[in-house]
Amino acid sequence: MPPLQHLLDSNRDWAETMIGSDSGFFARLATQQSPQYCWIGCSDSRVPANQITGLAPGEVFVHRNVANVVAETDFNVLAVLQYAVDVLKVKHIIVCGHYGCGGVRSALENVRHGLIDNWLAGIRTVARMNRDELSVLDHEAAVDRLCEMNVCVQARHVARTTIIEDAWNRGQEIHIHSWIYRLDTGRINKLAEPISAPILA
Ligand code: CO
Repeated sequence: MPPLQHLLDSNRDWAETMIGSDSGFFARLATQQSPQYCWIGCSDSRVPANQITGLAPGEVFVHRNVANVVAETDFNVLAVLQYAVDVLKVKHIIVCGHYGCGGVRSALENVRHGLIDNWLAGIRTVARMNRDELSVLDHEAAVDRLCEMNVCVQARHVARTTIIEDAWNRGQEIHIHSWIYRLDTGRINKLAEPISAPILA
């Protein structure tokens, strides 16, 4: 069997099953998408946005990168946000991290892994700024606490982009959610109330 043939076989089975339960499913999706949610999550293979929220194709606009970072200089995440907000008119932006995140762990441990260390520099800053709180925790607890802090920091970064500020100034309704996923239970927890207006402080 050629490499990856099993994936193509499984894709064919999936498409046939979908059509079996709703014959017009793909035909409808092909003409337009109108997702209600934009998801910014970690690239970790264990945190697939659609599956863990029970959302079908067409229902969530997804951006994932290592450790769900929102850097104001990253055109990739900015392009996703701009399209989601200005074109798709998504009302909910979900920043979802996860406990035990390898990127966050790496930022906390401060050991060299290569180029990725630059990507994680912002999280190292969060760790430094919260050194007092993190240093009294055992290592695993500190990693998990930093995972939570990182989600809240990145959600605030979303709120401070010109894309979101301009949308709020136009009167567009947008809520930014801070969520965290637990790998060993499959459950998502809310970390904070949604941000629904410009952060003034
Ligand atoms: Co991760």
